[in-house]
Amino acid sequence: MTSREPLFQRVAIIGLGLIGGSLASAIRKNNLAREVVGADQRKEDLLLGQSLGVIDTIAETTAEAVQGADLVVLAVPVQATRKVLEEIRPHLAADAILTDVGSTKSSFVKDVEAVFGEFLPCIIPGHPIAGSERSGIRAADPDLFSNHKVILTPPDNVSSAHLAKLQVLWETCGATVLTMSVAYHDEVLAATSHLPHLIAFSLVDTLAGEDQNMDIFRYAAGGFRDFTRIAASDPVMWHDIFLSNRDAVLREIDHFTNDLDQLRTAIADQDGATLLRVFSRAKAAREHFSKMLSGQAYVTNNSENQVTFRLQPGGSVTGDIRVPGDKSISHRSIMLGALAEGITEVKGFLEGEDSLATLQAFRDMGVAIEGPDNGFVRIHGVGMHGLQAPRGPIYLGNSGTGMRLFTGLLAAQPFESELTGDASLSVRPMNRVADPLRSMGAVIDTAEGGRPPLKIRGSQGKKLIGIHYDMPVASAQVKSCLLLAGLYADGTTSVTEPAPTRDHTERMLSGFGYKVDREGPTASVTGGGKLTANRIDVPADISSAAFFLVAASIAPGSDLVLRHVGMNPTRVGVINILRQMGADIEVMAEREIGGEPVADLRVRSAELKGIDIPEDQVPLAIDEFPALFIAATCATGRTVLTGAEELRVKESDRIQVMADGLAALGVETTVTADGIIIEGGQTIKGGSVHSHGDHRIAMSFAVASLRASGEIEINNCANVATSFPGFVELAKETGINISAEGSETDAEERSH
Ligand code: S3P
Repeated sequence: MTSREPLFQRVAIIGLGLIGGSLASAIRKNNLAREVVGADQRKEDLLLGQSLGVIDTIAETTAEAVQGADLVVLAVPVQATRKVLEEIRPHLAADAILTDVGSTKSSFVKDVEAVFGEFLPCIIPGHPIAGSERSGIRAADPDLFSNHKVILTPPDNVSSAHLAKLQVLWETCGATVLTMSVAYHDEVLAATSHLPHLIAFSLVDTLAGEDQNMDIFRYAAGGFRDFTRIAASDPVMWHDIFLSNRDAVLREIDHFTNDLDQLRTAIADQDGATLLRVFSRAKAAREHFSKMLSGQAYVTNNSENQVTFRLQPGGSVTGDIRVPGDKSISHRSIMLGALAEGITEVKGFLEGEDSLATLQAFRDMGVAIEGPDNGFVRIHGVGMHGLQAPRGPIYLGNSGTGMRLFTGLLAAQPFESELTGDASLSVRPMNRVADPLRSMGAVIDTAEGGRPPLKIRGSQGKKLIGIHYDMPVASAQVKSCLLLAGLYADGTTSVTEPAPTRDHTERMLSGFGYKVDREGPTASVTGGGKLTANRIDVPADISSAAFFLVAASIAPGSDLVLRHVGMNPTRVGVINILRQMGADIEVMAEREIGGEPVADLRVRSAELKGIDIPEDQVPLAIDEFPALFIAATCATGRTVLTGAEELRVKESDRIQVMADGLAALGVETTVTADGIIIEGGQTIKGGSVHSHGDHRIAMSFAVASLRASGEIEINNCANVATSFPGFVELAKETGINISAEGSETDAEERSH
């Protein structure tokens, strides 16, 4: 570094407190300037700064510090900003960058405008989100900003060269730089930093003022200490911050006192339900803090959080396992439980990202939900008309089912709502539900091409009107969406499907005491009824079991038992197709639990043969084709799939993405508009596969390793957690040679 030209010639730090001193020493440590000069009203701090090696040179006045500086950093208390700006203005070099480190940005902008008459392109407000309850130059730490965020709020006319230089400075000090508008910065900080500091100061002060304060502090538990740590922060600095960010802070205080008052009332009224609702929502939010911080709610598919699967070839699959709960039933258990009267208890709930997103969405609409705790969830139903407007957009992550079903439900609510999702969900078609809902009277705006986000106007006192809908595609999601809307509509809503699709909604509505008429391909409900709480035992997901059915079939020497698998006749296409290909699947202990057929399955290796997949099986195996393509590759002879264009609009284009992945492993296929042709018996070579963030693609290629000739690497696998948490461990347990890198836990640890 020493041989390289430093980024700046002379950096002037005005104000040598904790932040100014830390930045000065970080600049020196990283050789970012030829000279760091400090100015401060307190002479002794300057001398100390120099003797500690925080600064190179002492300036007698701010004017002297600024002369010849190509970077000037204001690190003074926010309220002193204007005076310092007035002092430095005549001495500031024309192309010097001027920045600050204050916690409020609109006040800085106002001060700059008052002193300079305009906002110059070289002035870039900044705010490092780092600190310590210690203050002053003695606490200066060159690593204070490492792994912390720095927010810059550049003006529209900012000089991009200056902005880039300032960004490099902060990044070299170890920080991550974000840019945002001044107003947004102040709103966000009022909520996440200023309000918590105010509460901490106030709480400690209240307790300190009580008669027995010594005793109270003596008995204070660790929670009090953690919670009030920030009350030891610098009073002058915080007094400035609150005075400067007045409006945004007042809004947050009002919001908070209103909510605190609600809790007070709940305690006074012995209203346990409200306490439980608020506490469980907060607990869930806190537990998922890091994910929510990255704006990803419950979904892990972001660039900082990549998971790669690595598989060694070969192996056989044995053991006795139970895969996680059914995703479709888990979503619906929360939805119907929330709308029911009474308490619904769910066993075997899928704790995957998709169904957790649904669970959180209902918490956000005021429903108290306990758990999930090892698959157990208790939902305190609010009745058909008890949902409350969510405070912000509902984020559904990767879940198409969530988005389509919520659209039907929310179109009938009296409040407005917005549904958003991750990158994959954001390109999936939503007009298939928006169009029929519009003909029921719903008002729904989509983004271009009928994509999410969806803005749902809400019924606004007008009821939806029941319709009859002939579905152009066989989709359980569309059917379920319309039936949910139909619960609220005037008259009867009926849906006819072109081919049978999963009927969990109909079965579960009946289980919750709501009458559903079924006549051949048509299901109908009449609006205005109610749901009564129920107990639900979620079977293991046949769609997750499918990976192991294929795995044990293709890997020689395999013998695996899968317990408690859901065997709903609208879901068993994968078993029908595999058996037709010659698979050895034994169905044992068939039983019915909570309205759904369940069985244990024993699967042993078999010589599979290629088939023409019957089109009537396509909707019954719609999610299982990625795994079935692997079975077809390992079979002898040709497998032909037709009538499956729906696969192109799933979490990825599953026809193309599977064909590309197979090609990467040396397997040739022929892609058609509505399916694929796979010549069996080709060697699966080692290689690197793109999963396109699609959980089922990732798991299918993991299974392919059992018959591969080399190592397979699969990227972007974080979304396996949407439907199959614990897949890697379970696969390993059965004999698949899998390891995962960059798991979610690693990523979370890194972020702390
Ligand atoms: C689902 C229906 C299917 C399926 C999805 C879950 C459901 O989608 O692919 O994974 O829970 O209703 P379509 O109904 O759009 O085919």
